[in-house]
Amino acid sequence: MKLNDPIAEKCKIINIEHIRKLVGADMLLVNSLIEKNLYSEVELIDQLGHYIINSGGKRLRPVVVLLSSRVFSYVGNQSINLAAIIEFIHTATLLHDDVVDASLLRRGHATANQRWGNEASVLVGDFVYSRAFQMMVNIDSMCVMKILSEATNTIAEGEVQQLINRHDPETSKEDYLKVIRNKTAKLFEAAARLGAVISNRTKKEEQAMAAYGRHLGTAFQLIDDVFDYNSSPEELGKNIGDDLAEGKPTLPLLYAMWHGNEADTEIIHNAIENGGLQHIDQIKAAIISTGAISYTEKIAHEEAELAIDAIKGLPPSEYLDALKTLAKFSVARQY
Ligand code: IPE
Ligand code: IPE
Ligand code: MG
Ligand code: MG
Ligand code: MG
Repeated sequence: MKLNDPIAEKCKIINIEHIRKLVGADMLLVNSLIEKNLYSEVELIDQLGHYIINSGGKRLRPVVVLLSSRVFSYVGNQSINLAAIIEFIHTATLLHDDVVDASLLRRGHATANQRWGNEASVLVGDFVYSRAFQMMVNIDSMCVMKILSEATNTIAEGEVQQLINRHDPETSKEDYLKVIRNKTAKLFEAAARLGAVISNRTKKEEQAMAAYGRHLGTAFQLIDDVFDYNSSPEELGKNIGDDLAEGKPTLPLLYAMWHGNEADTEIIHNAIENGGLQHIDQIKAAIISTGAISYTEKIAHEEAELAIDAIKGLPPSEYLDALKTLAKFSVARQY
C-alpha cells in the first residue's frame, strides 16, 4: 500500500471498537445522562426524543469530548455533561435536518418527520436544543457557554448558506467548503476544544484541539457527501440520493459537472437547478468516470492528515492515539 494513498487507505478497515472500550465507562454515564435529560411530561416529546436517541448513531462527537478531556488528564464530571450536551445539539440538528432535506430514513429507521410529521420534528428539535442549553447553564462556565452558543449559531448559518446554494450550479468549491465547515465541522471543533477548556490548558493547546476537530469534521462531511452517491441504505441507514433530489451542490457532484463530458455536464447542471432523481444513474456513472469520488476522498484524506498534524505536539497517550485513529476512521469508514 502506498503511503497516503486515499484509495488504499479506504480499503484498510479502521476498527474503532477499541476506542469505544477506552471511553466505555464514561460513555455509560453519558448515555444515562442523556436518558435522564430527555424526560418531559409532554408525551410526544418523550416518545419522539427517545425514538431518535435510542435509534443508535455512532456517538462520535461525545467520544471526541471524552478523549480530548482524557488527553489532558481531566478529572471531574464536566466532560460527561459536555459529551451529553454535544450529542443533544447533534440530535436537534438531525431532527431539523431531516425536515429540511425531506429525508425518510435515518439510522435504519423511518425519520421522525416521516413518523410524526414535520411540525413535531421541528418542535421536538427545539426542545432538545433548549434542553442542551439548560444543561449548559448548569456547568456555569462563561467560556463553555461562549463556545457552544457560537457553535450552534454557526451551524444554523451553515444550514442557511446551504439553502441559499441549493439549485445553484455556480457554487464554488470554496462556497461548498464554507458550508460544511459551518454546518458540521464546527460542532466537532467545539467537542475537541472543550476538553482543553475544562482542563484549563493553554490557548495553544486549546487551538490545537480546535483545529483537530475542525479538520476531522470537514473530512467527516466530505465522506458523508460521497456516501450520498456511493453507498447503500443497508450500509448507511440513510437513503441514497437525498442531496441530489434536493439539488444540493456537494463536491462529488460539482467535480463531475466540472470534469464530465458535455452531456454529463449539462445533465448535472440541470439536476442542480431543478433537483429530482430522474437522471441518477447517468449522474452516478459520471461521478465514477470523472473520478469525483476519489477526488473528494483525497480532499477528505488531506483534512484528516491536517487533523492529525494539529495534535502532534500534545502529550502522548493512548487517548491522543485514539483521536488520531478517529481522524483516519472519518475517511475510511463505511457507515
Ligand atoms: C450525520 O452525522 C450528520 C452529518 C454531519 C453528516 P453522523 O454520521 O455522526 O450521525 P449519527 O449520529 O452517527 O447517526
Ligand atoms: C448534516 O448534513 C449536517 C448537519 C449539521 C445536520 P447532511 O444533511 O448531509 O446529513 P445527513 O446525510 O442527512 O445525515
Ligand atoms: Mg440530511
Ligand atoms: Mg442536510
Ligand atoms: Mg448527508
